[in-house]
Amino acid sequence: MDSIPANRRLWNQISSAYQHEHDPQIGATPRLWGMYSIPDAHLHALGDVTGKRVLELGCGAGQWSRALAAEGATVVGLDLSEAQLAAAARAMGAARYPLVQGAAEQLPFAADSFDLVFCDFGGLSWAPPHLAVPQAARVLGRGGRLVFNVASPWFEVCYDEAASRVTTTLQQDYFGLNTIAEDDGATSYQLTYGDWVKVLRGAGLIIDDLIEPRPELGTPNGYNETDPPDWAHRWPAELLWVTHKP
Ligand SMILES: C[S@@+](CC[C@H](N)C(=O)[O-])C[C@H]1O[C@@H](n2cnc3c(N)ncnc32)[C@H](O)[C@@H]1O
Repeated sequence: MDSIPANRRLWNQISSAYQHEHDPQIGATPRLWGMYSIPDAHLHALGDVTGKRVLELGCGAGQWSRALAAEGATVVGLDLSEAQLAAAARAMGAARYPLVQGAAEQLPFAADSFDLVFCDFGGLSWAPPHLAVPQAARVLGRGGRLVFNVASPWFEVCYDEAASRVTTTLQQDYFGLNTIAEDDGATSYQLTYGDWVKVLRGAGLIIDDLIEPRPELGTPNGYNETDPPDWAHRWPAELLWVTHKP
């Protein structure tokens, strides 16, 4: 299934409202991961990027990319949506970096172009992972790292569509999560733990860590309601994979 046209259309449509709602949170300070804006300084997922060639897969308005460019990385921000890229261009600071329109499942870069490929609910949530992960592995050099944050299967199977919130009961099957129907015909993707391991190992990557970001009690979720409010303090809402190419 080709989800590129519908996903591009969706993100072009929602870009302005999305940035209005979320940029104040995700752009507040550099290096904030996920729905709970947990600092990378607590999670140690990315490490020092100074002098590294970095690709953000699905950079949105570039909240991450501009921070890493300011730290001295050579960053490329890739996104499918021209509206999101326009937002990134408007928000670019003194540290300039190139923006490229493209899809995570069809990366327009040569092999061995990057030392770090990463995203936070970007291309690995919105492109089929069995296509996007091998693409990321291809453009990495030896020793290069693929680091990405996605929703956890726990979060997805406990999401009650009718009530629009995450609950404490299993709402849908774990097996066969795969594709999630989003608004206006768009699709996001989710794998089981086993399928993530298969896809990562199948692309020749070594799994170094699986960080389960845990917000402090009382940390708001900027994206989804949860019942109870401290849901993500009790169960893992996100998976932050840390891998490298040997
Ligand atoms: C939730 S945003 C992630 C960006 C940023 N980290 C944030 O949280 O806003 C998802 C981004 O993925 C982009 N996207 C959707 N499908 C994509 C694809 N196939 N390849 C690359 N980017 C894609 C969207 O345009 C959007 O900017």
